[in-house]
Amino acid sequence: MAEIIAKRMSQIQPFYVMNILAKAKAMEAQGHDIVHLEIGEPDFVTAKPIVDAGIHSLNAGLTHYTPAVGLASLREAIAEFYHTTYQVSINPEQVIVTPGSSGALQLLLSILINPGDKVLLTDPGYPCNRHFVRLLEGEAVNVKVDATTNYQLTPALIKQYWDAKTRALLIASPSNPTGAMLSGDELQSLISQVNKHQGVMIVDEIYHGLCYGKKAHSALEYSDDVFVVNSFSKYFGMTGWRVGWIISPEAYIVELDKLAQNLFLATSTTSQYGAIEAFSPATMNILEDRRCQFQQRRNFLLKALKNLGFGVPVDPDGAFYIYCNCEKFTDDSFLFCQKILEETGVAITPGKDFGIHNASKHLRFAYTTSIENMEKGIERLAKFLKH
Ligand SMILES: Cc1ncc(COP(=O)(O)O)c(C=O)c1O
Repeated sequence: MAEIIAKRMSQIQPFYVMNILAKAKAMEAQGHDIVHLEIGEPDFVTAKPIVDAGIHSLNAGLTHYTPAVGLASLREAIAEFYHTTYQVSINPEQVIVTPGSSGALQLLLSILINPGDKVLLTDPGYPCNRHFVRLLEGEAVNVKVDATTNYQLTPALIKQYWDAKTRALLIASPSNPTGAMLSGDELQSLISQVNKHQGVMIVDEIYHGLCYGKKAHSALEYSDDVFVVNSFSKYFGMTGWRVGWIISPEAYIVELDKLAQNLFLATSTTSQYGAIEAFSPATMNILEDRRCQFQQRRNFLLKALKNLGFGVPVDPDGAFYIYCNCEKFTDDSFLFCQKILEETGVAITPGKDFGIHNASKHLRFAYTTSIENMEKGIERLAKFLKH
């Protein structure tokens, strides 16, 4: 058979951290002790009430497809969650259940983007978004952001970069890789600016729930004419279950349903039954305890990295990441990550996973491991940096 690969694939980059992870695993297989500070998922296993609900559904024979947009009971539970968490009223019909927020972002962008349409994103930012836009033959406009705007977009930047071909703005708050969060006022001003351009606003709220100090506001508190994407992966600790959702304005529901039927038929049935249990008081108690642990880890790592001499352009408000400037030590953060892994067994994500803007000067540390482990990692980094 001839080897035929679509041209667009040359513009889809892998996660560079996968190289680091593969190398770390190979070193582990050879008996090396590795401290993982690169992994973007909670180390905790899924809370037991969720696991039990998934198993129960399997034993009860609930193994068939669900409607493409999800189980009615899960859509109702998600709508209720918005009511209790943000005091906003959502019609369960507006909830579209998807295979993770990855599925949500692909589905949503697919109903919005024509070839040549532009989508404004941040650089640094979550890398898959620009690839999703590319897959649709759209153009990702990666707007450079830095500490001066808390690594988020502003109305002025939107105005500067918006042109006749721009269709949407896609942001995350708290963001990956910086953990920087938009205030309610900031969210509101971004929504107004996008409205002025008659564009579409998409807010990825996947790290909501994992916030330390400041309250996370949902874009839905300020407008019912925005798309919100979220997931059970991070706060709810269900990465492997692959369940996420979109809250959509009513006008788009029919198109989302139609394409969901075609793209994935439905989200995993077992996972959806598990997800319903994610909102129970028993699960919420477990998740709040874990959030507190993440907060302690954040405080520990933030202090430790600053003591080592890393620059921290913005203290993270949420998620489980610290984005660091490493130019005091290197001008190539990718090689630096590789060297650190080889010489110390500490795995970190290089800046180039999140874009190109100042990428070689930055790294992302994830505090998805225990404080004891992080102490070990910091000790090794201290020795390495003294050389
Ligand atoms: C900002 C952001 N959005 C979306 C995702 C995708 O997550 P999932 O598909 O597991 O919901 C991630 C994963 O790391 C992320 O960091």
